[in-house]
Amino acid sequence: KSIEKFIEGIPKTELHLHIEGTFEPELMFEIAKRNQKKIPYNSVAELKNAYKFNNLQEFLDIYYAGANVLITEQDFYDLTWAYLTKVHEQNVVHVEIFFDPQTHTDRGIPFDTVIKGIRSALEDGKSKLGITYKLIMSFLRHLDEASAFKTLEQALPYKDWISAVGLDSSEVGNPPSKFERVFAKSIEEGFLTVAHAGEEGPAEYIWEALDLLKIVRIDHGNRCLDDAKLVDRLVDLQMPLTLCPLSNLELKVVQDLKEHPIAEMMKKNLLVTVNSDDPAYFGGYMNENYLGIAKALDLSKEQIATLVKNSFTASWLTDQEKEMRI
Ligand code: HPA
Ligand code: ZN
Repeated sequence: KSIEKFIEGIPKTELHLHIEGTFEPELMFEIAKRNQKKIPYNSVAELKNAYKFNNLQEFLDIYYAGANVLITEQDFYDLTWAYLTKVHEQNVVHVEIFFDPQTHTDRGIPFDTVIKGIRSALEDGKSKLGITYKLIMSFLRHLDEASAFKTLEQALPYKDWISAVGLDSSEVGNPPSKFERVFAKSIEEGFLTVAHAGEEGPAEYIWEALDLLKIVRIDHGNRCLDDAKLVDRLVDLQMPLTLCPLSNLELKVVQDLKEHPIAEMMKKNLLVTVNSDDPAYFGGYMNENYLGIAKALDLSKEQIATLVKNSFTASWLTDQEKEMRI
């Protein structure tokens, strides 16, 4: 069996995915049209051509601009449903996905419009496609603490629908410590916590995410390799890292997939996983991410299987659910 067929066939789970990052240009044009919103590009091809990034910020600017055309509950439903049907074709059976409420509430879209649209699609995904899910509400770290507190307040009526809070957007200059109190309150309210750390930011931000935000999983975490003590700690804890190879390549976190740290991390016994981050912008969903590193790093089927198994281990499925799916 070819490595392609092996990757396609194995049931997978995705743990680092921003639903706003699955907004494919074709759907963006369709939704913009029905909402009578303008996109500053004349065609799908022109838009796709703008997807060339030198760093995280250049991507974020375009990603937030794209999200501006999402207005109604139906829009959020359609966005999420398109993602689920896409990954269903790729044999993804469980997803733990982020949404960024502030990207929408700051434009006057009500919190409940956003979450209800996403949630109904996820429920349909469960009943019609057999994809189980968890939802993670991510705070935008370039905004202030007060805005994050306000968002947490808005989420409380939907507590049962949200498993965890996260932290994303512009990393450098916005350390985890900025959100220590919001995360403490989130934990008090019963949420798990995760955070993007060590994508562009230093290893120090990973320490902060562990010690101050009490995270149960690190999103990205590439830069942990700069700090041997930190690696020891992460190995000891078997703390999951959600790596995103094609995202790293497109945002110039790595210059070539051949330099991607995932193989070295596996050797060090870190609990690493493969994810797609923002597939509509980075040129690949789950299979393309696995295939990218498999080829660049010459991974064996056994190593791929280990990565897939790691993702189930790192997921928030119950032990019984994990056993049924591994
Ligand atoms: N990093 C930070 N913020 C994000 C990302 C990312 O990779 N994707 C979407 N928002
Ligand atoms: Zn991300």
